[in-house]
This record gives sequence, structure tokens and C-alpha cells, in this order.
Amino acid sequence: AGRAVVVGVGHYLPERVVPNSEFETTLDTSDEWIRTRSGIERRHFAAEGETTSDLAFNAAEAALKDAGLTAADIDAIILATSTADLTFPSAATMVQARLGMTNGFAFDVQAVCAGFVYALSNANALILSGQAKRVLVIGAETFSRIMDWTDRSTCVLFGDGAGAVILEGQEGAGTAQDRGILSTDLNSDGRYKDLLYVDGGVSTQSTGYLRMQGNQVFRHAVDKLAATAETALEKAGLSCDDVDWIVPHQANIRIIQGTARKMGLPMKNVVVTVQDHGNTSAASIPLALSVGKARGQIKQGDLIVTEAIGGGLAWGAVVLRW
Ligand code: ACO
Repeated sequence: AGRAVVVGVGHYLPERVVPNSEFETTLDTSDEWIRTRSGIERRHFAAEGETTSDLAFNAAEAALKDAGLTAADIDAIILATSTADLTFPSAATMVQARLGMTNGFAFDVQAVCAGFVYALSNANALILSGQAKRVLVIGAETFSRIMDWTDRSTCVLFGDGAGAVILEGQEGAGTAQDRGILSTDLNSDGRYKDLLYVDGGVSTQSTGYLRMQGNQVFRHAVDKLAATAETALEKAGLSCDDVDWIVPHQANIRIIQGTARKMGLPMKNVVVTVQDHGNTSAASIPLALSVGKARGQIKQGDLIVTEAIGGGLAWGAVVLRW
């Protein structure tokens, strides 16, 4: 049986680092509040003129280098983002052009903070159905562009960045011990739109800013994340006891801790980057995978469960052996 195996990972963060203290000068907030309520200490913001496809391209190059591959070896690009450069074409085709690829196909996936989990699941399906052999899967965002800088309850929480993995179809015995994606679980429920959305868009002829009822999202997050992670593990014939690393969407340290607790796993089995990146939406999981590997946490053969929830609500999990 075939498997979609991660053969490369990389990330890119814009140069500018913004510590919490920077918000103290313009808003009624404090480093203490942001740290204790969210776990965030700093975040990166893209430079003026620096776009999502720029961040995505840099992450893609890092992942290709890590895999020892070139763009010619890739036959599909899936880019998870809610902050594409333009309404169209997709940011994925912009990355394709920058990489010098004239073969294959590229498209964006929009599932807000769950975007990377959705993109991984789609890439896995393309590989298992024989439509692609190697897929470059990117999460890239410039959420700084949709912040209302007068709203202290949202603008301190988000950051910009990009991460990427390369998935390759490989033959194998197809057991849970073999490397690759073992299972996926995707969910959405559009009734919860008002909890987290951007109040503008093309069809409403406006741009808009992110609006969030943070405590309401929080209420859904821990239960839904633990449930989707456990469902995905069950589909793979595994349980929480088998997990080496939870690589969660990095929105809030309290959600991350609550989900791990619910799954019965200690924080030493969780990759945490929220303190340095803030919430980078669809970029947070590939960023955490790349940083987790660079730190020496994630090693070949480790069992990983990634999970995310965001606007939609949309949520899901992917179980993979690294
Ligand atoms: N500085 C100081 N005080 C603040 C700030 C701030 N930056 N922001 C809000 N407050 C105040 C509020 O006004 C409120 O004051 P009040 O009690 O006088 O009304 C108080 O702090 C508590 O506010 P809550 O919203 O109840 O605080 P909570 O503990 O829930 O933390 C947070 C807020 C950090 C937003 C949290 O709810 C959270 O992380 N929610 C989930 C976010 C998330 O996961 N989003 C999904 C992914 S994102 C995506 O899909 C794009």
C-alpha cells in the first residue's frame, strides 16, 4: 500500500519581531495580560510590501533544500492561506512561478486556522489516488494585514509566517509502524460563522478586519480538538498512548494545555512555539513542525498528531509517522 511520507520541512519568518511591550504604547494592554491569557511573548510582522506568496516561497525553498529536491521534482503545490496576495490567481500559482515550475498544478485551500490540516489531507488524497507523486504543502499567512489595530482583544494575538512540507508517495507494508500519513479527520460547522470572521471581502466590496469572540471560540476549542485528534488516532488503529508529539495549532497556550490534558498527555509531548510566533493561522503547524525538528524534538519514526481549529468553525487532525 502507498503512503504519503514527509521528506522535507522548512519555514520562513519575516525579519521584524514585535514584543508584547510594543502594544503597551498604543493600547490599554500589558505584556503581563497577553502572556498570561495567551502565552504569546512576541510575533513576527511582514515588512511593507512583503506578501503571503513571498513568505510561502521562502518556506518552500527551505523545504526543498531539506528534502534535497528541486522544483522540477514537485508535481503539485497546495497552499493553505486566508490572506492570499490577490483575490486571484491563487498564491500557490505565484509560488509555482517563483520556483520556476511550468509543470504540475497549484491551488490554495482556505480553511482559516485549520487550513494546513485540510491541505495535508488533500495532498494525502492526491497521492493515494495517484494524481500526484510529490506535493509541496505550504501554510502561509500575513494576518497583520487584517488586524483592527484599535481592537486589543484580537490584534495582540496574531503574527505572520510560513511553513512547508514535501509529501512523497512511497510504497510500504502499510502498517502503523511505517512512515507517512496514517489517518485524517476533517470537520466544519458553518453555524458558528459569527464567532470568528473577517467583516469584508470581494463580494461585499470591502476589505474588512478580523472579528473574534475569543472566549466563545475557546469554549469550543479544547473539546473539538481533543475529539478530532482521538478520532484520527482511532482511524489509524492507535490511541493517545502511542503519541510521541502533539503538534497543535498555536493559538493560545491555555487551549494547547487543555487539549493535551484532555488527551492524557504531558506537556513534554507537545511542540510549543506560540510564545515566539503568536497565532499564524494556517502557518502555525508547519512552522511548529519545522522548528520542532530543528530543536531536535521531532525525530524520524516519531508518531505525531497535528490538530487545529479556526474560523468556520473548521477543525481537524492528521496522524503521521515522521
Ligand atoms: N489587554 C488587556 N485586556 C484585554 C485584552 C488585552 N489585549 N483583550 C481583552 N481584554 C479584556 C477584555 O476586555 C475582558 O475585560 P472585561 O472582563 O472587563 O470585559 C477581559 O480582558 C477578559 O476577556 P476574555 O475574552 O474573557 O479573556 P480570555 O481569558 O477568554 O482570553 C483570548 C482571551 C486570549 C482571546 C482567548 O479567549 C482565546 O485565546 N480564545 C481563542 C482564540 C482562538 O483559538 N482562535 C481560533 C483560532 S484563530 C483563527 O481561526 C483565525
